[in-house]
Amino acid sequence: MSIQVLQGRSGADVRRLLDALPDWFGDPAAIDNYVSAADDLQYESSLAVDDGLVLGVALTRRHFPEAAELHLIAVHPDARGRGIGRRLVDAVAFVLAADGCTLLSVHTVGPSFHHEPYAQTRAFYRHVGFTPLEEHVGLEWPGPTLILVRPLRSVRTEAPLQ
Ligand SMILES: CC(C)(COP(=O)(O)OP(=O)(O)OC[C@H]1O[C@@H](n2cnc3c(N)ncnc32)[C@H](O)[C@@H]1OP(=O)(O)O)[C@@H](O)C(=O)NCCC(=O)NCCS
Repeated sequence: MSIQVLQGRSGADVRRLLDALPDWFGDPAAIDNYVSAADDLQYESSLAVDDGLVLGVALTRRHFPEAAELHLIAVHPDARGRGIGRRLVDAVAFVLAADGCTLLSVHTVGPSFHHEPYAQTRAFYRHVGFTPLEEHVGLEWPGPTLILVRPLRSVRTEAPLQ
């Protein structure tokens, strides 16, 4: 697989990816907000690129020196299940940990709202190291929001002692 994860911004690619995922991103206003976030310097943006084509995106926001949020992750449906989502999460986790961040959180639709696409999303988050922390109703939408967290391992930037 020749896929590379790069730091880069592309609102147009975020829109193309989210338009291809209507089961998760069916609200045009929500898509507009993610597209705006892609060009907002408060967010870091990582792109998974294969031969010039963007197949996935991750946006993170650093809320505190110790804590960041995975604001958006999306992989094109034609490229799902090829390890791109894991590559994106691991890449942002590495960069954040190297900068002293110790915790990565993510919000998604909670399990008390039965919806198969988001059950898949929660399974993905569990597979890539996130632990469910809290579910709250009415946090970001009228239904339940699940908050998951992934501790970030400290990254050595100097050579280990022999
Ligand atoms: C969720 C999403 C980002 C995952 O990306 P992906 O490239 O398909 O995932 P990967 O191939 O990297 O899978 C990583 C791991 O998660 C597991 N996984 C992925 N989808 C899964 C599912 N539906 N059920 C169970 N496990 C799943 C994989 O088996 C893999 O585990 P492994 O590495 O231990 O073998 C992608 O499917 C997507 O864009 N979904 C729609 C949008 C979305 O849900 N965004 C988040 C909204 S909050």
